[in-house]
Amino acid sequence: MKILAVSGSSTGQKTDHMLRKVLESISDEHQKELVVLKDIDINSCQNCKGCHKNHLCVIDDDMREISRKLEEADAIILGSPTYFDNVSGGMKNFFDRCLPFYFSRKLEGKKVGLVSVAGFEEYIEYDKGGNCEWCKKDECADSVEHCLQAMEYFCKHVGMDVVGQVAAIHGNPEAQDNALVRLGGKLT
Ligand SMILES: Cc1cc2nc3c(=O)[nH]c(=O)nc-3n(C[C@H](O)[C@H](O)[C@H](O)COP(=O)(O)O)c2cc1C
Repeated sequence: MKILAVSGSSTGQKTDHMLRKVLESISDEHQKELVVLKDIDINSCQNCKGCHKNHLCVIDDDMREISRKLEEADAIILGSPTYFDNVSGGMKNFFDRCLPFYFSRKLEGKKVGLVSVAGFEEYIEYDKGGNCEWCKKDECADSVEHCLQAMEYFCKHVGMDVVGQVAAIHGNPEAQDNALVRLGGKLT
């Protein structure tokens, strides 16, 4: 099987840790790849409507290769840090560029796992309640659920089958390592 992980992290840190953990849990007999969106060139969707009929994007950038990899993948893992209760700009840009798949239905039925991390662990030690900086203003547990929901809606639109989700809070992805391994088991 081919397993493709896509990271929308701007730092390559906690989100990528979660994605790597899922990939590591999957046997090496499978082909596994992590695509980090910040390292490649993906422009914004222009809403030119070109893809509505021929299912191809007119923009000639790295999304062409990623689209081929998405089509070839048997299972996909999407990972995004939680930004303002949503996915990161990089992940949202990627979703928008997946519009050809909404029309082609070429991702229909593919298994997908979702991971997200929220909160700032750097501030936990200053808060006797054990919460992170974001939790003092809001709730990072709520934030991450909203982010995962946004990813779920994207998957629903392109017809992918969400088999599991992992949320990390207080900026602590390691606390979810066991759940990430279990997610890997659902993808193969
Ligand atoms: C622009 C921005 C917005 C953020 N919004 C939220 C938020 O709504 N809720 C939250 O709990 N954490 C928020 N955070 C914290 C990130 O979710 C957190 O730093 C995450 O671990 C980053 O993942 P990374 O290590 O992959 O970059 C935000 C961070 C940034 C930079």
